[in-house]
Amino acid sequence: MQTIRRRLLTLAAACALAPGLALAQSDTVKIGLILPLTGPFASTGRQVEAAVRLYMQQNGSTVAGKKIELVVKDDTSAPDIAKRIAQEMVNDKVAVLAGFGLTPLALAVAPVATQAKVPEVVMAAGTSTITEASPYIVRSSFTVAQSVVPMAEWAAKNGMKKVVTIVTDFAPGIDAEKVFSESFTKAGGKVENVRVPLRNPDFAPFLQRAADEKPDAIFVFVPSGAGTQLMKQYAERGLDKSGIKLIGTGDMTDDDILNDMGDVALGVITAQFYSAAHPSAENKAFVDAFKKANKGMRPNFMAVGGYDGMHLIYEALKKTNGNTDGDALVAAMKSMAWTSPRGPISIDPATRDIVQNIYVRKVEKVGGELYNVEFATIPNVKDPVKAAKQ
Ligand code: PHB
Repeated sequence: MQTIRRRLLTLAAACALAPGLALAQSDTVKIGLILPLTGPFASTGRQVEAAVRLYMQQNGSTVAGKKIELVVKDDTSAPDIAKRIAQEMVNDKVAVLAGFGLTPLALAVAPVATQAKVPEVVMAAGTSTITEASPYIVRSSFTVAQSVVPMAEWAAKNGMKKVVTIVTDFAPGIDAEKVFSESFTKAGGKVENVRVPLRNPDFAPFLQRAADEKPDAIFVFVPSGAGTQLMKQYAERGLDKSGIKLIGTGDMTDDDILNDMGDVALGVITAQFYSAAHPSAENKAFVDAFKKANKGMRPNFMAVGGYDGMHLIYEALKKTNGNTDGDALVAAMKSMAWTSPRGPISIDPATRDIVQNIYVRKVEKVGGELYNVEFATIPNVKDPVKAAKQ
């Protein structure tokens, strides 16, 4: 008897509190950040999370009168886990799903975003087709193909006739291989293709196979974090002294690891959208603040995708006056344009993909540290794979 009475009292107390609770809930906007925080791609998770937190620290955690609550979860780079976490977050009423350090993770979450009508802000993955997997996907990172076309054209213009491509064997690597081969052949060059496994890659036999072809250059796409091992094995085989040039996307000379690669990386030419050495006031402020907040860690291109993704979410919420309806948020994100640490960027309203400058860069020593020093700019590059279909 006593217990039932107590239960009724508790229930009555809860009901009295309920209106307050409902108000408190609608005053909060939850953002679910899903990232690889452990395992071989943990550096991507670390960089994106640090940048998201920096953005919030600099811009406050109240937007359009709503309190932003960040929920961060580790997908361990397993697509089924990313999908389960996304579903749980949706059940828990997140307004936005964000993060996605690898293409398979972004793709696994796409059906959840579509079904729940919740925006999926892709802050890191780079396969061209990702934005086509859901009308709720908006990308703040990049497409690999965006960097590959300028690299292929630069190689052809700079006297290279034969190139062997080495790419990691998963979706963005296959984009890189296909787009490089098409662009370089169109410019009159000859190409051979080699693919390396994603997990525990041993580059040595593939580098040897590439070198045996005696090309003018080896073009590399490896995902962020894998460049150290590649560069080590490149040096071990003496390829840095073979006269074969090393070129690629900037994922290979990622700012997170570049400075530890040693002088073997000097002279490597890459094309990409972000360098910690990008000479602008916005970038200097970003790099300084990021390092200060993270024990001296240098931001890489993944970090800038996280930082800009957060800007996209904050500005969309401002435009909707705090309305978290998924369609309203995606509509607000389309056509958004601003100056990022990487330079001017915008969201293409037709594709929900990012439009940005691509820079051609060379690894040089600046103040005793290795940096990707930009020496040419290709402005306002759209994803070439989708542009070809339009
Ligand atoms: C991807 O999975 O899309 C991806 C991951 C790492 C990169 C680039 C692309 O550096």
